[in-house]
Amino acid sequence: MPFDKNILCIGAGYVGGPTMAMIAHKCPKYKVTVVDIDPVKIAEWNSDTLPIFEPGLDEIVKKSRKKNLFFSTEIEKGIKEADIIFVSVNTPTKMFGVGTGMAADLQYWEKTARQILECAESPKIIIEKSTLPVKTAQAMERILTFNNKVHFDVLSNPEFLAEGTAINDLEYPGRVLIGSHQTPDGLKARDELVDIYTNWVPREKIITSGIWSSELSKLVSNAFLAQRISSINAISALCEKTESDVMEVAKAVGMDHRIGSQFLNASVGFGGSCFKKDILNLVYLCRHYGLYEVADYWEGVVKINEYQKERFVMNMSNAMFNTLAGKKICLFGFAFKANTGDTRESPAIFISKRLVEEKAEVVITDPKALDNAKKDLKDQDDKVSYVEDPFAAASGCHAVAILTEWDLYKTLDFHKIYSSMTKPAFLFDGRNILNHQTLFEIGFNVYPVGKPALTHF
Ligand SMILES: NC(=O)c1ccc[n+]([C@@H]2O[C@H](COP(=O)([O-])OP(=O)(O)OC[C@H]3O[C@@H](n4cnc5c(N)ncnc54)[C@H](O)[C@@H]3O)[C@@H](O)[C@H]2O)c1
Repeated sequence: MPFDKNILCIGAGYVGGPTMAMIAHKCPKYKVTVVDIDPVKIAEWNSDTLPIFEPGLDEIVKKSRKKNLFFSTEIEKGIKEADIIFVSVNTPTKMFGVGTGMAADLQYWEKTARQILECAESPKIIIEKSTLPVKTAQAMERILTFNNKVHFDVLSNPEFLAEGTAINDLEYPGRVLIGSHQTPDGLKARDELVDIYTNWVPREKIITSGIWSSELSKLVSNAFLAQRISSINAISALCEKTESDVMEVAKAVGMDHRIGSQFLNASVGFGGSCFKKDILNLVYLCRHYGLYEVADYWEGVVKINEYQKERFVMNMSNAMFNTLAGKKICLFGFAFKANTGDTRESPAIFISKRLVEEKAEVVITDPKALDNAKKDLKDQDDKVSYVEDPFAAASGCHAVAILTEWDLYKTLDFHKIYSSMTKPAFLFDGRNILNHQTLFEIGFNVYPVGKPALTHF
């Protein structure tokens, strides 16, 4: 049966895989192919064990795979056959040369643009799904129109999914944003993409804009979300000094409908592959345009996040008689958030390394992220161990620190955990998810974030 459209996605990562699985699931008349340079990843997408964990992902992949959803390493063939190409390659922070540690590293993205130019034999719509600095579409167009061989229209369609809830976010998005040039060709291309989304997204949720506004909106969106976390985390430090409770403050503040209650949970700090990189990218752009005060303002969001992670380690040290040397500390959770195995920029990486620097012994447990944790900490091998069962992990430890808000930690038998630990036993709740009074009554010395500690001393 011939398909109505051939859709290609370059990049089979956390964004490319789930977004294309959703399009294939909702649009059986389209053929959707996802390609990647990494053959191992593609083999995993074609196997029973997908390369990423995301609730609901397995089901929709298995329903469409080999029917209208294909995973392949044949990038050139994919480009030749496609009418529409989503580019979803990684755009990490640049770690060399100009813009080191700040700007986006666009090498993967630029390679993709050149490869599309090289292989394309018919007109195509190219869609930026990766998060990119403003005006990247212009650079992409310059590469693609270099020899005027075929006609390309470039659109920006940033992805707003959150890991851990990606499938729900893709199925019921708050909004879909499509940026295009306001030319007849640009608008025609935009409408083709609108047509894809209207297969399942209500039309009023699909918003359109100029291409530069669309690119910038994604960076600003992440900057605002991260800014809320850093704001409440900054206040958590003050709460600890003033015997206030950051959860009570957040509740009172968040009930003002002008502020809202989302993203006001104080914690050990934000992680994930996007927030830090996207803010630094915004900061770099502002400095590039001479907007130094604006750059400093946003850079503050990242600085508070670094401060919060270090503060967490210092609080542990202060609580445990000013030394962590020789102490065994169990980290409950390593993923940067619950319901994902992703550990990119997870606060747990920084905290593990700092604990090792303080000469502590670190035991890590996590239901989904242990493989990634082992890769992240491969240079700390003899100081860190990995144990799947949380009870076995905590046994003999001086302290447990909650670093990921996995639901399973809320229902553990903490009497059992307490009885197996070295005394006095400490519990540092870096996500404020446990019942602190109950833990205190069991015998723990409890240190939440931004709330008075409950201690037996
Ligand atoms: N992860 C998220 O939650 C999220 C959310 C929204 C937006 N984004 C953005 O989406 C983009 C992708 O993020 P991700 O988390 O999916 O990254 P990822 O690292 O999980 O996936 C990117 C994939 O692209 C592949 N790749 C790189 N160069 C390639 C090339 N030349 N040809 C083919 N494949 C190539 C890599 O092998 C990798 O599998 C980034 O710009 C990110 O900022 C991510």
